[in-house]
Amino acid sequence: MIQSKDIPIVKLDNINVDFYKGKGLLSKPRTFNALHKVDFSINQGEIVVVVGESGSGKTTMSNVIAGLVKPTDGTYEFNGHKSNSLTKEQALEYRNSIQIIQQDSYAALNPMRTMIKSLGDPMLIKKLADKINLSEKVREVLTTVELTPPDHYINKYPHQLSGGQRQRILIARALAMNPQLILADEPVSMIDVSLRVAILNLLARLNEDRGIAILYITHDLATARYVGKNGRIAVMYLGSIVETGNVIEVLADPKHPYLQALLSAVPIPDPRLSRSRNRQLITEEDLPSVSGMPTGCRYHTRCLYCKEICKTKQPIARQFGSSMVACHLAEELPKFELYESKAGNE
Ligand SMILES: Nc1ncnc2c1ncn2[C@@H]1O[C@H](COP(=O)(O)OP(=O)(O)OP(=O)(O)O)[C@@H](O)[C@H]1O
Ligand SMILES: [Mg+2]
Repeated sequence: MIQSKDIPIVKLDNINVDFYKGKGLLSKPRTFNALHKVDFSINQGEIVVVVGESGSGKTTMSNVIAGLVKPTDGTYEFNGHKSNSLTKEQALEYRNSIQIIQQDSYAALNPMRTMIKSLGDPMLIKKLADKINLSEKVREVLTTVELTPPDHYINKYPHQLSGGQRQRILIARALAMNPQLILADEPVSMIDVSLRVAILNLLARLNEDRGIAILYITHDLATARYVGKNGRIAVMYLGSIVETGNVIEVLADPKHPYLQALLSAVPIPDPRLSRSRNRQLITEEDLPSVSGMPTGCRYHTRCLYCKEICKTKQPIARQFGSSMVACHLAEELPKFELYESKAGNE
């Protein structure tokens, strides 16, 4: 496959997703805007990490990319073709070349099927293997995800495997489809901390060795930095992308007040450092209620620096240094310091 880091596999343009929230006895039906004017792309062979707190729209965006949620407005492109002009073959190619790795490996695998069935049947259906070479192909993907020797796993049921091994099976199932892009939505949040790094390393290796693009979704800034060290980050808040750029640069010098607040909330095990931490970066703890989405900048109700314009006008993402930042005040904010300046003098 010819690859270029500048060719988007998927490009979302001004995407809105509204969910219908239903109707109670006394309430009117209403919609909830889960994605708001999202522009986003993933290039061939790229790693992109998406972070944001619960409910910020990370899974919804991934589902739009996977074709599982239809946007209410906006367009998306696959390999340069607009979604509404894809031929049948291109739509099929789209579906096959974007694979998802779910968070809950137990729920994602059929408990009644052995691994050769779970991995082999999709290969047969998509004609990526035939009855003669199937067992060999399944052994091959098991070996790639480091489940060796493969014969030990091939006839096992999901309950006979550990959480880490099941997660590797999900990666194998995605790989068997020869994907261009893997969407990994919190792939390690349900497994033992000691096993997480190995799974994340496996994803990074698939990216480096095979050029498969990875979208890694997480709450955890530490794994975001680890997985995405050669890639990009997109920070989401209440359905909007508020900052994007190179992972290392964005996390070293965050511009958006929300990302600054997220970074200042990460626990630090050293009590001396922790005491000197600048914590006063958010005005209230809770997300606004979904029934009353803030006007203007959606973050303004929690932002320490909020000004009048932030309450009325939605900021458009613009280039600031090497990042894209959606904040009216990006240029005038003080430089982010994770620790108070006296920390160095203690
Ligand atoms: N099918 C749906 N119907 C109605 N509302 C939905 C639906 N899917 C998601 N939402 C709402 O859209 C918002 C974004 O949800 P989403 O699952 O994308 O968030 P998330 O960032 O992935 O959160 P988490 O970190 O908890 O997984 C939430 O408020 C959620 O309740
Ligand atoms: Mg989610």
